[in-house]
Amino acid sequence: MTVDEDCPVPSPSAGDDVLIRVKAASINVLDLRIREGYMNALYRSSRRKAKLPLFPIMVGRDFAGIVEEVGPKVTKFKPGDEVWGALGLDHTYGSLAEYTICKEAALSLKPTNLTFVEAASFPHVALTSWGALVKSAGMTKETTAGKRVLVHAGTGGVGTFSIQLVKAWSGHVITTCSTSGVELVKRLGADDIIDYKLENFATKLSEEPKLDIVLNTLGPQVEAESLALLKRGGSYATIVTPVVNSMDNYGIVLGLLFALTQKWKRALYQRLVHGRRFSWAFAYANGEILDLVKQMVEDGKIKPAVENVFSLSDVHKAYEHLARGHARGKTVINIAD
Ligand SMILES: NC(=O)c1ccc[n+]([C@@H]2O[C@H](COP(=O)([O-])OP(=O)(O)OC[C@H]3O[C@@H](n4cnc5c(N)ncnc54)[C@H](OP(=O)(O)O)[C@@H]3O)[C@@H](O)[C@H]2O)c1
Repeated sequence: MTVDEDCPVPSPSAGDDVLIRVKAASINVLDLRIREGYMNALYRSSRRKAKLPLFPIMVGRDFAGIVEEVGPKVTKFKPGDEVWGALGLDHTYGSLAEYTICKEAALSLKPTNLTFVEAASFPHVALTSWGALVKSAGMTKETTAGKRVLVHAGTGGVGTFSIQLVKAWSGHVITTCSTSGVELVKRLGADDIIDYKLENFATKLSEEPKLDIVLNTLGPQVEAESLALLKRGGSYATIVTPVVNSMDNYGIVLGLLFALTQKWKRALYQRLVHGRRFSWAFAYANGEILDLVKQMVEDGKIKPAVENVFSLSDVHKAYEHLARGHARGKTVINIAD
């Protein structure tokens, strides 16, 4: 990866494009994996459609910044607006740059009580968490009070947001983390904390009332044990899915079909045999969801969890930190003060 100091400023070529002057962007595990070739099939397709060469690609998913210019069909934003957003899966530009292009539908006005650095820490993980807990597991503001929700890896980017979302809606959060993360998850509001270095979550929770919702942020290694802890009628959502790998291996259409067939089989089994909802969840680039999150942030119900701030020239150091796998919230790149 290199930092290119001589890039042209992109122009909002489609009618719903918005050109953003990026003030800060956060880095995500997805960016690390993109560097290794992940999402190659989607990238090839979107670059072909945009008539751009395959390389170099710009990484970076979410950002906070200022609207610089809008396409002719844009109605909700105007130059000078302070915004936050996350780019869609098939984005052409990245957010780790002084300028990026985002679709109007993926943008939202930035919470007024956050700095750009704080705001940039949210969009991708907030949209992932919302996708999993709300869209997939069916959690709502009205029905979450008292529900027992297990959030795996409460110290990660998705985990730190998810704990706060469940608490904002008065749910009961149980989370797993290592010893050095206990203070952070306590501060974010977790009710029960399982230090996975000291005890196994499945053994501990098997002696307690069954769970209403499980959010798996770790992967298949905790799937079977997590499902066994769910009550009948409960919901399981995982954000670590084989969909993109399958598209990379077999092409977009075949890969998607192959992966979804696996998912449907598992979902059907869980539904028919155990009466549970089983789902795979994804981040949606969606400005309307960010509008709802903005309100919760401005109401003080959700706070930023920024672990580190790096400059753009030190972006490699930021990725090295994330690649170690022990995040405590989010790492943000301050692009322009
Ligand atoms: N489907 C989607 O659209 C989507 C979107 C975003 C992310 N994801 C995926 O979701 C996963 C999590 O993302 P993230 O951004 O939250 O990652 P992250 O910020 O890198 O956090 C990972 C966290 O997991 C903790 N951890 C590691 N092993 C653990 C264990 N056995 N039990 C409990 N905690 C453990 C780590 O801390 P310690 O090592 O110190 O314990 C760290 O805090 C990644 O695989 C990412 O690719 C998917």
